[in-house]
Parts: sequence; structure tokens; C-alpha cells
Amino acid sequence: MKTWFFTSGLVPLSLAHSWVERTMRIAPNGTMIGAPGYERAHVVRGTIPEDDIRWLLPPDGPHEKVIHLDHRIAHPRQRTLHYCDQFGPVKAAPGNFVALQYQENGHVTLPTINPKKTLNRGTVYVYGTLHNNLTDTNLVDVHLAWTPDGTGGDRKGRLIATRDYDDGQCYQINNEAISLQRQKKFPKTPEDPMGQNLWCQTDIQIPCDTPVGAIYTIIWVWDWPTMSEVGVPVPPASFHANRTDAAVPYVKTPQIYTSVVDIQIVDVEPGMVCKEGGGLAGYVEQTNMNLAANRAQLGNLFQVGVL
Ligand SMILES: *[C@@H]1O[C@H](CO)[C@@H](O)[C@H](O)[C@H]1NC(C)=O
Ligand SMILES: *[C@@H]1O[C@H](CO)[C@@H](O)[C@H](O)[C@H]1NC(C)=O
Ligand SMILES: *[C@@H]1O[C@H](CO)[C@@H](O)[C@H](O)[C@H]1NC(C)=O
Repeated sequence: MKTWFFTSGLVPLSLAHSWVERTMRIAPNGTMIGAPGYERAHVVRGTIPEDDIRWLLPPDGPHEKVIHLDHRIAHPRQRTLHYCDQFGPVKAAPGNFVALQYQENGHVTLPTINPKKTLNRGTVYVYGTLHNNLTDTNLVDVHLAWTPDGTGGDRKGRLIATRDYDDGQCYQINNEAISLQRQKKFPKTPEDPMGQNLWCQTDIQIPCDTPVGAIYTIIWVWDWPTMSEVGVPVPPASFHANRTDAAVPYVKTPQIYTSVVDIQIVDVEPGMVCKEGGGLAGYVEQTNMNLAANRAQLGNLFQVGVL
């Protein structure tokens, strides 16, 4: 039996958080296939307070809102491998694309709640590593340090994708213009677990040299600062607030959220050859939005320029 969750549109949207809640392997044709996977230490939304799930940097509190060198990159619950049988990691092969799915919670469709956020609703940086234990890993060790070629920072991982938080199609049901337009443009049958909403996705590709049998750890970093003015398209790749040497517009308040997910690396399907990039080679136009990958993301791993 299917259970559908309908949102009323009256939930306190400014209070709801986003994190990666589900992962899906993407077939070469652009359809999500196979069993869903989950983030580390998955929690079902609504079962514990969201403030206990999210990982915000710099943390809330009466102190100065700046990133410190020893701010850990991951929530304590997500620093080590932690899965139960019911909510395990997704399985995928080197070269496969994988969708990291999250709920926009009004951050996309209700932009007037936070008018000084950037128009892309923040930039998502995705880092991949074979070092699964993030206990001692700081944000600054990884974010804007690891590079696509793996030679950046401590060289323990790579930047594998950059994305706009607004993936250009996701929505939650409400009566504002963005949601109404997208409900029309990307209609879908209500389906568990999204219900009537269309979750956002960050599609990534597993590097071809990732060993079969490994657990590949993905760190999803959503850089969502409040800017000094409205209408800035994309945030600068900087987490320093009120920099007097920065050009206008500048970051007024840094706000970064992270999520950690893992991928269990399995063998490539018979007859498949791992190829980096080229995510549209076998692409077929998708009609079921509940299972459709994001076409633009399959065609471009680095949509947002860094630095
Ligand atoms: C895409 O490929 C998968 C796996 O082969 C298949 O199950 C699915 O039906 C295909 N989807 C479309 C739209 O062709
Ligand atoms: C992770 O690393 C920390 C610090 O280096 C260590 O104390 C801990 O035992 C490790 N945990 C696992 C599960 O490997
Ligand atoms: C930046 O300066 C403004 C005052 O001009 C202050 O209200 C704000 O809290 C400062 N932001 C940070 C993150 O320190």
C-alpha cells in the first residue's frame, strides 16, 4: 500500500531545514533506478527536532558568526559510517550518476522569506572521498580546498560537482508564482515519499577510479549566505562576513549546511564502460518526474564556477 504525504502549504516554512534525505542511482537514460539509499544516520523527517539533524556552520549562538579553522565539517551523528538495515547507503558503480535528493522547504519557491539570499538559492559543493571517517575533518580542510583533480588541500578527496541549490525544477506546493509555474511545467503523480512535491536534486558522478567494494563518502555543502543586498545571482565562494576588503556585494552573514551520504561501490554493469562526463550519451526524454534525473546536471558536473 502506498502512503502519500500531502503538505498543507501552511507549515512554518521559514523554520524547516534542508538536508540530503534520499539517494538514487541514475540509469544512463536519466531514470532513477534501484533501491533508494539514505544519508548517514538517516532520520525520518518529523521524528526528531530538525535542529538536532541539521549541521549549520558557523553554529548559532551569541558568538561572532565566523568559521573557525577547527569547525568540524559534519554533524556528530554523521562523522562515521552509521547505517541501519532499513536505511542503508545506495549502491552504484564507478561512472554511474547518483541523485542526492532534498526538500526545498520554501527556500526555492518562497524567496521573499529571505530576500537577501542569492538568486540561485545558494551554491552546493559536492566533495567525494575514500576516507570515510570525518571525526577530525574540518570544513576548511575540504571546502574550497579539495579540487576536481584531487591535488588540493590535504589531497584526501576531490570536488566532484558544483550546483545551484535551486535545481531549476523542484517545488513544494504553495500558491506563489514559482511553485505554480513549476507545478504546471513539471507535473507529477503524487507518490511516496515526495507526495505532491518535487524534491530538489544534486546529481553527481562517481569517479571512474573509485575501487569496487569501497564505500565512497560524499560531503554535500550548501553555501547559503545572506548578502549585503538583494538580487545577487550566486554567492562568492567565501565564508567570511563583513570583509572590509571585499567588493560590494559581500557576505553579510555566512550560513552553510552540510550533509554526509555514502555510496557502496559495486561493479559496472556488463557491457558498460566507465566514462567521466558524458552523462547525456544514453539520455532519453523523461516523462515521470518522480524518477527523472536533472538533465542539465547530467550534462555538466560543474555548473557553478568556483573562486
Ligand atoms: C531507463 O532504463 C531503465 C534501466 O534499464 C529502465 O528500467 C527504464 O524503464 C528506462 N526508462 C526510460 C524512460 O526509458
Ligand atoms: C574515527 O576517527 C577517530 C579520530 O581519529 C577515532 O577516535 C575513531 O575511533 C574512528 N572511528 C572509526 C569508526 O573508525
Ligand atoms: C555585519 O555587520 C552588521 C552591521 O553592519 C551586523 O549587524 C552583522 O551582524 C555583521 N555580520 C556578521 C556575520 O558579523
